[in-house]
Amino acid sequence: MSRIATIEIDGKKYEFPVIEGTENELAIDIKTLRAVTGGVTTIDPGYKNTGSCESAITFLNGEEGILRYRGYSIEELAEKADFLEVAYLLIFGELPTKEELEKFHSDIKSHAIVDEDIKKILDGFPKAAHPMGVLSSLTSALVAFNPTSVNVDSEEEMYNAIVRILGKFPVLTAWAYRKQAGLPLDYGDNSLGYVENFMKMMFKKPTEEYKCNPVVVDSLDKLLILHADHEQNCSTSTVRIVGSSNAGLFVSLSAGINALWGPLHGGANQAVIEMLEAIKEDGGDTKKYMSKAKDKSDPFRLMGFGHRVYKNFDPRAKIIKVSADKVLHELGVEDPILDIAKGLEKEALEDTYFVDRKLYPNVDFYSGIIYRALGIPTDMFTPMFALGRLPGWIAQWREMRLRKEPIGRPRQVYIGETYRSFKKVEDR
Ligand code: SDX
Repeated sequence: MSRIATIEIDGKKYEFPVIEGTENELAIDIKTLRAVTGGVTTIDPGYKNTGSCESAITFLNGEEGILRYRGYSIEELAEKADFLEVAYLLIFGELPTKEELEKFHSDIKSHAIVDEDIKKILDGFPKAAHPMGVLSSLTSALVAFNPTSVNVDSEEEMYNAIVRILGKFPVLTAWAYRKQAGLPLDYGDNSLGYVENFMKMMFKKPTEEYKCNPVVVDSLDKLLILHADHEQNCSTSTVRIVGSSNAGLFVSLSAGINALWGPLHGGANQAVIEMLEAIKEDGGDTKKYMSKAKDKSDPFRLMGFGHRVYKNFDPRAKIIKVSADKVLHELGVEDPILDIAKGLEKEALEDTYFVDRKLYPNVDFYSGIIYRALGIPTDMFTPMFALGRLPGWIAQWREMRLRKEPIGRPRQVYIGETYRSFKKVEDR
């Protein structure tokens, strides 16, 4: 059934086709709007009602709390898949066969070395530099050492750039941490799994054998899967729009890392822990923070709560909450802020301010509690989000390029001064 949307302006009617996605989402196709109306555009700050593209990668239903990667539910993938399988699924559209997965991992491992000169760039940073700033800089710097990964138009060139960044990004992430921790910049061991190898690169001490705890590897693998993609969120839209100018994959990813850093986005996982710590220091007075969050004159927000799309539980938060209990128990970690988090969640879910605005815990509310239990420092939480989101960013960038999407260039409504002539300084 073809649907039409009609817009009437000054008594004149204009018709536009309405497209329907495979999950019955409807969208008004306004590609011809300016042309047929003589210049009328739409305005939608934050793009709350605007679709930027058609995509076959991730489906969200915010009202029902549904998240699927290429049709597979996040619950099943988190339970049954591993991170590299999910990365392959997101990027290439199908779960890999055993041979495809082995080749993918072997190609990634063949690029798990970073040019030694990158260490000189890292040396230039102060120890106190936030790892997200280090990571976005080093990701951009990779271009200088991998010139063949810049102009990638063919699928083969894209594949080579993709396995390169999937091989090098965990190294850069681990080095960003080790720089801060004053540890030597080391490599992992290609005989290990992707996540196990990352944990070894992060935490191996030069003086002792690194023994990976399977509980830690399994829990991190699950967390990375849960963060792997999330349709057109702020950082993914950034990666797409930068890539739409034909900028290379690495620099588009670097832009995405910077967008993710914001505390309203991926930086929230760090802000949640800082908030929970503050509540703990404050004697666990959650009520004070709840009223701050509701006070419009106070910029404080309940970090880890609310979402642009989910107006129900974020399905990832549900999985992470269960996993937090399990991991802390298995690792024998007692973390009082887990109880504070649960108390805060209970209070918020019974408070009309949050209920009326459909504000539920999001992916960032509990993830930091697990990262802490895994020994990951707070300012490395958002880099962990970036490590998880990397395949999603890559998949979205690749889809945008293969579909030959036009350069992103939104319009505006000008509200500044109308024409006025120049005045000499003596006449002003
Ligand atoms: C991520 O988009 C994605 O998919 C992102 C992400 C992904 O995987 O990529 O899911 C990852 O970024 C999760 C979100 C992490 N951010 C936080 O936890 C920061 C705290 N949350 C908020 O700042 C907020 O909820 C946002 C930014 C997440 C969403 O903001 P919106 O959609 O623009 O909603 P809004 O700011 O218009 O809020 C609507 C109302 C407002 O009150 P009123 O003006 O209606 O009275 O809800 C209030 C807001 O003040 N509100 C909050 C709140 N979040 C929204 N009030 C207190 N605490 C909060 N956390």
